Amino acid sequence: MKKLLTFVFMMTSIGGYAQKYSVQDIDRLVSEMTLQEKIAIVMGKERHLVSPPDAAPGMIKRPAPDYSNLSALYTGMHKDDDKVVAAFTEGRVKGAAGENGGVKRLNIPLFVYADGPAGLRIDITRPDDDREYYCTAFPVGVSLSSTWDVSLVERVCQAMGNEVKEYGVDVLLAPGMNIMRNPLCGRNFEYFSEDPFLTGKIASAYVRGIQSQGVGVSVKHFAVNNQETFRNGIDVHVTERAMREIYLKAFEMVVKEAKPWTIMSSYNKINGVLASENRWLLTDLLRKEWGFDGFVMTDWWAEEDGARQIAAGNDLLMPGTQRQVDDITAAVNCGRLDESFIDDCVKRILYVMQKSPSCQQYEYSNQPDLNAHAHIVRQASSEGMVLLKNNGALPFKGKSVTLVGVDAYDALVGGSGSGNVNRRYKISLDQGFANTGIKLEKALSTRYLEYIKQEKSRTQENFWTVPIIEEIPISREEAEQAARKTDIAILVIGRMAGEGSDRQLVKGDYYLSDVEQQNLQTLCQAFHEKKKKVVVVMNMGSTMHMADWHHLPDAILMAWMGGQETGNSMADVLTGKVCPSGKLPMTIAQSYKDYPSADNFPFSRGTESEVCYDEDIFVGYRHFDTHEVKPLYPFGFGLSYTNFEYSNMQVAVEGDLIKVSVTVKNTGGTKGKEIVQLYVGQPDGIYPKAVKELKSFAKTSLLKPGASETLNMTIKKENLGSWNSREGKWVIEKGTYRILCGASVEDIREKAEIRL
Ligand code: GLC
Repeated sequence: MKKLLTFVFMMTSIGGYAQKYSVQDIDRLVSEMTLQEKIAIVMGKERHLVSPPDAAPGMIKRPAPDYSNLSALYTGMHKDDDKVVAAFTEGRVKGAAGENGGVKRLNIPLFVYADGPAGLRIDITRPDDDREYYCTAFPVGVSLSSTWDVSLVERVCQAMGNEVKEYGVDVLLAPGMNIMRNPLCGRNFEYFSEDPFLTGKIASAYVRGIQSQGVGVSVKHFAVNNQETFRNGIDVHVTERAMREIYLKAFEMVVKEAKPWTIMSSYNKINGVLASENRWLLTDLLRKEWGFDGFVMTDWWAEEDGARQIAAGNDLLMPGTQRQVDDITAAVNCGRLDESFIDDCVKRILYVMQKSPSCQQYEYSNQPDLNAHAHIVRQASSEGMVLLKNNGALPFKGKSVTLVGVDAYDALVGGSGSGNVNRRYKISLDQGFANTGIKLEKALSTRYLEYIKQEKSRTQENFWTVPIIEEIPISREEAEQAARKTDIAILVIGRMAGEGSDRQLVKGDYYLSDVEQQNLQTLCQAFHEKKKKVVVVMNMGSTMHMADWHHLPDAILMAWMGGQETGNSMADVLTGKVCPSGKLPMTIAQSYKDYPSADNFPFSRGTESEVCYDEDIFVGYRHFDTHEVKPLYPFGFGLSYTNFEYSNMQVAVEGDLIKVSVTVKNTGGTKGKEIVQLYVGQPDGIYPKAVKELKSFAKTSLLKPGASETLNMTIKKENLGSWNSREGKWVIEKGTYRILCGASVEDIREKAEIRL
């Protein structure tokens, strides 16, 4: 008897539930639930705030909806004390973004959701607990997509998913995968590309990696959340064809190829209707057409009318506010919302979360292997770096470096906002060089370290904002002295960005600051006089204006924001320990105004409440390539320390697949990897089309000098169509299709034609 009691006690103590529900139980459970219990499933838990967060940047405080004109049945609505619940629960996993569930009477456990795309974000400390809950800061989205390596991305996300599971979280609110329509979008660092195919493939690998660990994702932000300004009020005007071919295509690929547990609807309106209330988007398209069988949650405080959100098929309202509870209760009581809509949402949530660690009563350790994960971060980050220019400066084999730039000593390893991670440490480039035995010019490094220490003592970093430390001017004397004493100059240019606000077209953001420009010129003068080289390393999550300075240095490495090992990864590539193999997932234009969205980005027309995607499908290289606007660095561009030759492309049409193979040979002197891109040029049709579009890609293994590898790629014929809005379907034109194999969108090496 004693044993039995012990067993029962133990079982109920795990998550407090005697047993887990099974999928077969769900209909019965819902039939037994009260309305309040159903609301506990479709609504985030109300958590008392530790301190009310100021309205998150970029969000307007929504005026309470005016219900005065509604029937008197709407009694007791909208208590004034609209308690905005915590974005950070005090619940089971402190610092998580939200919880739902927890209906003890019916053995429905509490489910926990936490950010973010570059690693799990939870609080480091907990009351009455002397342990520390650090997580690994992984490379940001754009760093992962620049590897063009789906198996590497899957491996990185297996590690990330392991941390989600071992810290007791059920769903990671990631990946962010909106299209990079404009370089100024504040969240480009979290996203993957200007191209929907590359985005869809990288995001699918990301989702497979995370979910392989038995936890879920929330693919976000669905849809057309391509700017941060006024994000929960802005109305995006976009054609159906641009939606289908550009802004929804990657989400469609992820739903069909990776089966995400959940999707997060976006804050913004789409052609006048809030995404979270858009039944066509969330039910007709997502579920009925694409076959999505997970559930949809709102973005945080994307609260408009809870009843309308439920009716649209937005199953879970996060983080959950009292006002929404009132909305739904009143709407059901007065017959405005049929309870069957809520039942559908509850069933979809319970169906998905039945496989969650919380329902499976997984006993998480709170001790993931952070050291093992750090190694994966270092490898992935270096594989994502893109060598833009190299006139013999790299790989650097010298012994001493003049290191300039605040961010060389204080690396930007990730963006701010929900994508931030509470990491144990970060490695900046100065430490990265020290770890490889390279000496730094003492006077300058001392000056930078003291300056940064002093500046940091004055400012406070928090999850919304990472204070920017201004660059310091280097004098000619300092530069000349440094040029005498060291072998090379390396200048790091950093740019921070984050959720809730877009970047600005100003010096110090999209443009170099005067001090940065001056420092670059001073270093080039001093070092070139001594026949020594200057290298610029870019540490940022998007791109910036380069045309007026990229001719000055001898080499330029785009390092992105590579997570907590950034400095080691930069040193690995700069010294040649790792041969750079990354390629640009977005176009770097000669001038901002060359971007097709330049005139249609918030504030560019002095309006903030709406944005018109007038460029339609001509986003990124689809514009530059088709309208022959020469970019500075094209989509898919990236140099290596070696060279590659393409040969022997074979194309065969087999059923609904087009199979392409091409042989890549390392014709240079060092081992390296090559990314091959496959573009297709469609025959003309009734609609204007891009001259070619990315339809497949592959990456070689590490090839020794002289070694070759044949890469096999397939294109699904169904991916060759254009959306015909008049007939509401994909149309694949008959005629001649050009199959183009390239090292970038401009550098086409092999060509073939097929007829469909
Ligand atoms: C934020 C972001 C979203 C995040 C969520 C929870 O406002 O828009 O990406 O996952 O709220 O923090």
